[in-house]
Amino acid sequence: MAIERTFIILKPDAVNRGICGEVIARFEKKGLKIVAMKMAKLSEDVLKEHYAHHSGKPFFPDLIEFMSKSPVILGVVEGRNAVGLVRQMCGVTDANKAAPGTIRGDFALSTSRNVIHASDSTDTAKNEIEKFFRPDEIFDYELNNKQYLYAADEV
Ligand code: CMP
Repeated sequence: MAIERTFIILKPDAVNRGICGEVIARFEKKGLKIVAMKMAKLSEDVLKEHYAHHSGKPFFPDLIEFMSKSPVILGVVEGRNAVGLVRQMCGVTDANKAAPGTIRGDFALSTSRNVIHASDSTDTAKNEIEKFFRPDEIFDYELNNKQYLYAADEV
């Protein structure tokens, strides 16, 4: 399993409910590394492109309105198998069905207010990271506990 980077959005419900720190702490405690993070208010145009694959679905207008109404926190998370792992940690889209112990399972009740977006594949992650972050906003650094997180042949 390779070291990967994935893209996350802490959605307006996470920001306005004041639970971003708890969500980010889960990634840090797991041993994942935050390599980029910023707050932004996303425009409708940016969101329509980001969610283009949902265009035309009944929930699309609410999704764009909800996501553009308030600032969000954008991040890049790095670690072994980070794309799949972060998706697992988020739980399924419908927070009511998300397993306890997952972020959505523990912090949300709804499909449309489900706290977090995470890239669904390595290709999507690469595209989303490039779309939302300039190269100089992403940082390379070593965690000082790396030897306790990975064996030498795992990184
Ligand atoms: P996410 O998977 O991060 O990205 C697409 C979002 O669209 C999804 O989270 C939900 O917030 C929203 N979404 C997906 N399916 C539905 C649905 N059936 N009803 C309402 N919102 C949805």
